[in-house]
Amino acid sequence: MTQESQKFVVRTFGCQMNEHDSERISGLLSTEGMTAVDDDTEADVVVLNTCCIRENADNKLYGTLGHLKTWKAQREGRQIVVAGCLSQKDRDGVRGRAPWVDVVLGTHNVHRTADLVREARVIGPITEIFDEAVVDDHVLFPSALPVRRETTWNAWVTIQIGCDNTCAYCIVPAVRGREISRPIDQILDEVAHLAATGVTEVTLLGQNVNSYGRDLALAERRETGSGSARPLFARLLREVGAVPGIRRVRYTSPHPKDMRTDVLEAMAGTTAVCEHLHYPLQSGSDRVLALMHRGYTADRYLERLTEARRLMPDLAVTTDIIVGFPGETEDDFVRTLEVAAEADFDSTYTFIFSPREGTEAATMVEHFVDPAIVADRFERLRIVVERTALRRHEARVGRLEEVVVEGPSKRDPGLVSGRTRHNKLIHFASTEPMRPGTYATVEVIRAAPHFLGGRLVEVLAEALHKVRIPVASL
Ligand code: 5AD
Ligand code: SF4
Repeated sequence: MTQESQKFVVRTFGCQMNEHDSERISGLLSTEGMTAVDDDTEADVVVLNTCCIRENADNKLYGTLGHLKTWKAQREGRQIVVAGCLSQKDRDGVRGRAPWVDVVLGTHNVHRTADLVREARVIGPITEIFDEAVVDDHVLFPSALPVRRETTWNAWVTIQIGCDNTCAYCIVPAVRGREISRPIDQILDEVAHLAATGVTEVTLLGQNVNSYGRDLALAERRETGSGSARPLFARLLREVGAVPGIRRVRYTSPHPKDMRTDVLEAMAGTTAVCEHLHYPLQSGSDRVLALMHRGYTADRYLERLTEARRLMPDLAVTTDIIVGFPGETEDDFVRTLEVAAEADFDSTYTFIFSPREGTEAATMVEHFVDPAIVADRFERLRIVVERTALRRHEARVGRLEEVVVEGPSKRDPGLVSGRTRHNKLIHFASTEPMRPGTYATVEVIRAAPHFLGGRLVEVLAEALHKVRIPVASL
């Protein structure tokens, strides 16, 4: 069978960075002449883009690979590709546990996907993992690769790869390598290119966006002997927000220890930057924060939040919290409940601590918290956060919100679903079908902890695109 007539599926298990890598993998296979399909039964190649941040991601992968063994046996020539963070971590271990896998590649050689699929057809199974990023603009950042996106109006833009922090629980630095910032001009070129193809919303991606540009500034100082080594994220926000055609700018994730006033001011002073801050707390206990090496206290976290809300009074705030970090006592957890209530979050992503081999926290075995206690804490936190979320949503009833249409509602296809600038899901009725990417004014008429209900007031701007943007390369 020629590569051209082949069909592929890419399945993503991880974070937005991983989703974006999947878009690159799809782009690469599409430029080879292969066709993306939704269903494994049609596919010749299944790519699993994996995550290793928590243990259940591992279990999910190896479970899926078990099913795919049967899938592969059903038709001659089928191939299984495992990419992403888990392959970077497990390396030869992937094929050790699932020898029927054809290609294993990691986080630093996504650009090699199509080549490896082709080579494996000829020479048999391949495991190729690079130890670190190839410092070459052609392969380092996604704009240098074709990207096949699922949506037409919004796009992820990588501004930084890797992470230089040492959070005791986190495997990311081990699988994504050291922090490397993408040059500002390259980012602005990609955003301008996206805007020219009808994209109106961009999400800037990095593991620690507040330190964006510190390495670039240091390198410049080394070369020229002058200049400051300050991060450039505030400047980046303003410049991305000024790109014609870009109506919304989002970013993820900042680190509270590095959040500076200049970034909050840039958010407040740049119309396109959405009034939403994802601000990972992790724990409300200073003792646990210190064990985690987070570099801030709960008070400092809350002070920054107060400053953010002073500059942006109508700010939605979401967070990540880990429950059951080794040694977390009832008192520590109660602090988390108190800080979460005081922070008045719009929503939280709550995670149960998961020991990742190779991290400091994974060695604290004698302090692991009883799973029954962790489950109880998880539930107590959920109740606190749903209460604040509902109250904050109820306060929006009666307001007019700018909404971008995402498509028909998944719960009720008679309704249209969209996102507010605060990143809230809102469902509303429309007599006319509305194209994804259309901007509208919607009045909020109903509130629930995880979504809003609305009434369409007027369409502000029709989406440019009827169909998916074809593979685009810069
Ligand atoms: N266990 C549980 N949650 C984790 N996170 C990262 N590592 C772990 C782990 N080992 C969570 C953090 C982070 C989010 C992306 O995932 O809350 O902010
Ligand atoms: Fe993303 Fe981290 Fe999971 Fe990798 S390990 S997919 S960087 S969350």
